[in-house]
Amino acid sequence: MEAQMRIILFLMVIISSATEEVKNLTSTEGGSITLPDPVKEKGYLSFKRTTIAAVNKGEVEIEVDIYINRLHWDKNTGLFTITGLQRSDSGIYIVDSKKGRIFTKSYKLTVYESVSTPAVKRLSVSAESCILLCSVEKAEETTLLWYKDEEILNQSSSALSLLLTVHKQDFSSSYRCVAANPAEKKTLPVNITTSCNEQNDTDNSDDTNTRYYFVTGIIISIVFAVFVVLIAIIAKKKCLNKTKTTIRQTQDLVNTDTDVYYTVCKYLVTDAFRTSEPHKKMILRSQR
Ligand SMILES: *[C@@H]1O[C@H](CO)[C@@H](O)[C@H](O)[C@H]1NC(C)=O
Ligand SMILES: *[C@@H]1O[C@H](CO)[C@@H](O)[C@H](O)[C@H]1NC(C)=O
Ligand SMILES: *[C@@H]1O[C@H](CO)[C@@H](O)[C@H](O)[C@H]1NC(C)=O
Ligand SMILES: *[C@@H]1O[C@H](CO)[C@@H](O)[C@H](O)[C@H]1NC(C)=O
Ligand SMILES: *[C@@H]1O[C@H](CO)[C@@H](O)[C@H](O)[C@H]1NC(C)=O
Repeated sequence: MEAQMRIILFLMVIISSATEEVKNLTSTEGGSITLPDPVKEKGYLSFKRTTIAAVNKGEVEIEVDIYINRLHWDKNTGLFTITGLQRSDSGIYIVDSKKGRIFTKSYKLTVYESVSTPAVKRLSVSAESCILLCSVEKAEETTLLWYKDEEILNQSSSALSLLLTVHKQDFSSSYRCVAANPAEKKTLPVNITTSCNEQNDTDNSDDTNTRYYFVTGIIISIVFAVFVVLIAIIAKKKCLNKTKTTIRQTQDLVNTDTDVYYTVCKYLVTDAFRTSEPHKKMILRSQR
């Protein structure tokens, strides 16, 4: 009877230690994480079943090269810290303490992309209400939320933008748009009085867009104009040169008739164009 009890107790200990839960840890790209359980005297840190560091007699030895500048062990606290986190650092870490306080702890680290800062713009405003759009550049694993004080008014996951309709009587409340993933949160406070002010029509994002298209248009026009002028100069040079000789040669046969000049030039312009370098290359390529 006593033996049976012992076996049951023994099994219970094994089961409880085996099902000891894995601690979830989160961080963002470029950030750092400190594993919360210390190795004070002797122990190991492993990642995906590979030992990456060993602690013994107050010294740490990093066993995997890629961690040499990124893994730190604090002699005083006994805590491991990994810096410069990448998405590929996500996975299971195990801290194994072999002396003093003996334990084995597992952590599941998830490294998230850094959350992009939300931006708010006004879509429309009427006598009764104002419609605002909050948006982010990257939506992966990101939740967008509209808050009025502590109340969530609208929310959506993995969407690039989220609408909010504010009624006139609520204009004095305080609003904010929040972009969040499990590791990070970015908040943009929105003053409805200013954002929904009809006088305020300097919409920054549209402004930069228009400027961008404007500048691109000008550059394209300039390049095109330069190209046309170059072609004209080349053609004219060849034309005048050739025409002069043609005219000289045919002076007694034909009068210096404008018709002849025009025909010769027309031929030469197309000829000059055809023999210009990019065209030669294109012709060669299409012949292969
Ligand atoms: C850790 O995250 C997993 C999902 O990734 C979840 O199922 C589990 O309940 C979480 N554990 C704790 C202790 O929060
Ligand atoms: C919440 O967002 C969705 C999608 O952006 C929109 O269709 C809906 O009208 C919004 N609700 C409120 C109360 O603004
Ligand atoms: C919004 O801005 C206006 C003018 O700048 C100010 O008078 C008002 O108190 C602000 N409202 C909130 C809710 O912060
Ligand atoms: C105009 O609106 C933007 C946000 O849309 C705000 O940041 C800015 O302070 C407003 N300017 C004025 C003069 O109200
Ligand atoms: C102009 O014609 C002369 C002789 O006819 C020739 O030697 C010269 O290369 C020509 N120049 C051009 C730019 O075609």
